[in-house]
Amino acid sequence: MTVEKRRILVAGNWKMNGSVEMASALTQAIGDGVSDVQADLVLIPPFPYLLEVGRHIKRSPHPIGLGGQDLSIHPGGAHTGDVSGGMLKDCGCQYVLVGHSERRQDHLETNQVVAEKFLAAQRAGLIPILCLGETLQEREAGQTDQVVISQLEAVIDAAGIAAFEQAVIAYEPVWAIGTGQTASPEQAQAVHASIRARIRASSDTIGGQVRVIYGGSVKPDNAREILSCEDIDGGLIGGASLEAESFLGIAKAAS
Ligand code: 13P
Repeated sequence: MTVEKRRILVAGNWKMNGSVEMASALTQAIGDGVSDVQADLVLIPPFPYLLEVGRHIKRSPHPIGLGGQDLSIHPGGAHTGDVSGGMLKDCGCQYVLVGHSERRQDHLETNQVVAEKFLAAQRAGLIPILCLGETLQEREAGQTDQVVISQLEAVIDAAGIAAFEQAVIAYEPVWAIGTGQTASPEQAQAVHASIRARIRASSDTIGGQVRVIYGGSVKPDNAREILSCEDIDGGLIGGASLEAESFLGIAKAAS
């Protein structure tokens, strides 16, 4: 069966970077340069800057999505420091990252916690961007597929396959994040194909539709090669999303 190529999604995860001033200037510069971009774009700033980024996004001639970097498993209440999916929605988000490897590492988020966050996101009407990826040690031990598929399996078990109609998957090999050492197109494509095959095994239709995006040292000069792979439907961009020129360069490479 031939499947029409899915729309490319390029999301900029600012991680813990920025200021009100930077959020404003960067979003404005992206909005100003976006007219010939065909890919879907999403900006994922730190929580305190969501409203500021959202304010500029509204004026952009090309629709730009907004996302949170994390959410609580709880809908509200006595959970100091946490932010709920409903709050993100209220601030204008359509998306939220769940299970980023930095959350898994820094906050000891397990596959079960990540699955609960995925469910909490969808309950709040947000599209989860589920992050999966192996460490260098796991890759060198030949465990890449096993690790990535078990991270995915935990969410399929908790949410069911139909939940992936309203979700994005991001494959981010931990060893490629912020290191300048991107996965080769062949390495990335192979894991993306495994992820898609696992979804297809439960639903051929959803497997054909779900967007699986790649993250890890994507830059304007390597974006085209990576994003043109058959099962790679976009990028989750860290460092290169902090400058309008490089973020737009990646988005344009995808177009
Ligand atoms: P870099 O693009 O800086 O490698 O970060 C990737 C990432 O973790 C995006 O979520």
